[in-house]
Amino acid sequence: MADLSVNFCGVTFKNPLVLASGILGITASSWRNVVRNGAGGITTKSLWLNEHQGHPNPVIIANDHYMLNAVGVPDAGVKKAEEEISLFLKKRGASKPPLIANIIAGSVRDYGVIAEEIGRMKPDILEVNISCPNVESEFGTPFACVAGDAARVTKEVKKALKKVAPKLPVTVKLSPNVENIVEIAKAVVDAGADGLTVMNTVGPGMAINIESRTPILANRVGGLSGPSLKPLAVKFIYSIRQALPEIPIIGTGGVLTGEDAIEMMMAGATLVGIGTGVYYRGVEVFGLAAAEMNAWCTANKVKKLSSLIGTVK
Ligand SMILES: Cc1cc2nc3c(=O)[nH]c(=O)nc-3n(C[C@H](O)[C@H](O)[C@H](O)COP(=O)(O)O)c2cc1C
Repeated sequence: MADLSVNFCGVTFKNPLVLASGILGITASSWRNVVRNGAGGITTKSLWLNEHQGHPNPVIIANDHYMLNAVGVPDAGVKKAEEEISLFLKKRGASKPPLIANIIAGSVRDYGVIAEEIGRMKPDILEVNISCPNVESEFGTPFACVAGDAARVTKEVKKALKKVAPKLPVTVKLSPNVENIVEIAKAVVDAGADGLTVMNTVGPGMAINIESRTPILANRVGGLSGPSLKPLAVKFIYSIRQALPEIPIIGTGGVLTGEDAIEMMMAGATLVGIGTGVYYRGVEVFGLAAAEMNAWCTANKVKKLSSLIGTVK
């Protein structure tokens, strides 16, 4: 057996495969099920301070090549999050699979408030979603698309955490929908981010029902995810790793197999998120991909998977 464990900002994961935000990530029992199926850790869906309505149905369309979603980040608010997070943390067993809490807000100030609330719950890592394309119409351009805005959110979150959880690592989730992702990455790292999550969905895109001549999603447009994203994610991770070699990255976008995950790690990812892969291979995707990584390592005489991080020639 190869050693699949990795360390992200001082937190140990038994393998690098984590549930990406927004997929199966609503309750403690669902998170436990993902861990039972082989995930090294889990990310919650994006958590809002107050209840937030999503978009009307239909919100997802998927085929062999891609998924479009306009779920619209619905959430019950911070009270419900507290119940589920404390349930998960209390009963997570001896292996202690890490919990990454993902937060979202509509203003810089609210990012600070929600960070403080969630920081008190003592997750292992805080992921700051500044890059959701589906809430754009509500709040203007996503914070992830302007370096100054992205930096302001990061600073506010770090400042808020100083009071309640000064050691909690913060990873900021970047958007692919920008001209220069390295510039944004540098801005958030300068503002205090400990890690980066690369990346959220692409787009938004649109699919049309040609019989009715109407967009398939009720929201008309949605974020693109799934296999077609992987080359973009790999390139972005690679470019950021070249510019910021010390900053750990959670690589996310189109990973379905262990080989996909290894490719992302070679580009520079320490952890690898799987989201849409759950749709294609079921929740078993984590165990299957971990076994595939192990088989690859054995065949290639790699004893420690983490030795592959950033090794693309
Ligand atoms: C249905 C759906 C819901 C999502 N919800 C969230 C969310 O709440 N917060 C977030 O940061 N990302 C969210 N994402 C983005 C994913 O976490 C991930 O970054 C993206 O889908 C690319 O990875 P994938 O191809 O493995 O799905 C969502 C994606 C999908 C498909």
